[in-house]
Amino acid sequence: TMTRHALVAAISGIATVGIALQAHAATEVNLGHTLSDSSHYSVGADAFKEALERLSDGEFTVTEHTSGSLGGEREMIEGLQIGTVDVVITSTGPLGNFVPETYVLDLPFLFENYDQARCVLDSELGDELLEKMGDHDLIGLAWTENGFRHLTNSQREIATPADAEGLRVRTMENAVHQEAFRQMGARPTPMAFPELFTALQQGTVDGQENPITVIVATNFWEVQDYLSLTGHVYSPAIVLGSPILLDGLSDEERGWFREAAVASAEATREEVSRLEREGVALLEENGMTVKTDVDVAPFQEAVQPAYEIFTSEHGTEMLDRIQEKA
Ligand code: PAF
Repeated sequence: TMTRHALVAAISGIATVGIALQAHAATEVNLGHTLSDSSHYSVGADAFKEALERLSDGEFTVTEHTSGSLGGEREMIEGLQIGTVDVVITSTGPLGNFVPETYVLDLPFLFENYDQARCVLDSELGDELLEKMGDHDLIGLAWTENGFRHLTNSQREIATPADAEGLRVRTMENAVHQEAFRQMGARPTPMAFPELFTALQQGTVDGQENPITVIVATNFWEVQDYLSLTGHVYSPAIVLGSPILLDGLSDEERGWFREAAVASAEATREEVSRLEREGVALLEENGMTVKTDVDVAPFQEAVQPAYEIFTSEHGTEMLDRIQEKA
């Protein structure tokens, strides 16, 4: 039979193991985005998970929630503020509603190509904008990428702004984008992305605009016949963290999150570049009629008033600095 001493030792041993286990129990990090698990955001989520779990030696485990299962992008950003989600990969589409300084990045025809856009986001100006998130109960971890947006629709080939006249186009919940489409003569309908496929299917809207990556990852050829490579706006994306989780961590731990977010952005940019090379052929194979040689000058001219409206509200400082670099 066990002596009293042995019993106490055994119990305290069990208790010690219990405490040790508790100290090593991994913290689950919930990461959300709106696209499918074959998307460039999912490639980025996988890279984030791999890096954070490796850097923290298993202190954190990452669970990915795809396809808007945690809501649309605006809802997920709100989720970060109240702590119902820990990390979100989102376009800047709805971000201007929270951090108005970021609207500048969504101006149509602001960037000419990927190198230019990436270079600006990786500059001091990009870092400043990441820091601004802190004033709005958000933590900007890294700039990542959605891509240059192009117009798709179910009605007709679009070669000029006149062809877009009256077209009901779903836009993101972004005031700058809505204004640009109004100026083009289209009828912008802001809507959260998770509602879009059904809206196109049911004909509530005729068209939408998104990068090749998104058009591929969402099988939009099932509901859209025409694609015009308008490249009318570069759509940045961002890896955001929740202050509810991150403010309670050590500097070292927060550093792992930042490093993982940078790894995520690198993987995503590579995937965006790959789909820019291979995606159009894939969309054609799936039956889309693609207008590749769009003359963008008339589109550019049509959206000029969006710039005036933007600068009258937000000034010219940010815009001047970007245009200097670009
Ligand atoms: O169209 C949008 O809302 C965004 O581009 C998307 C598809 C959610 C990716 O950020």
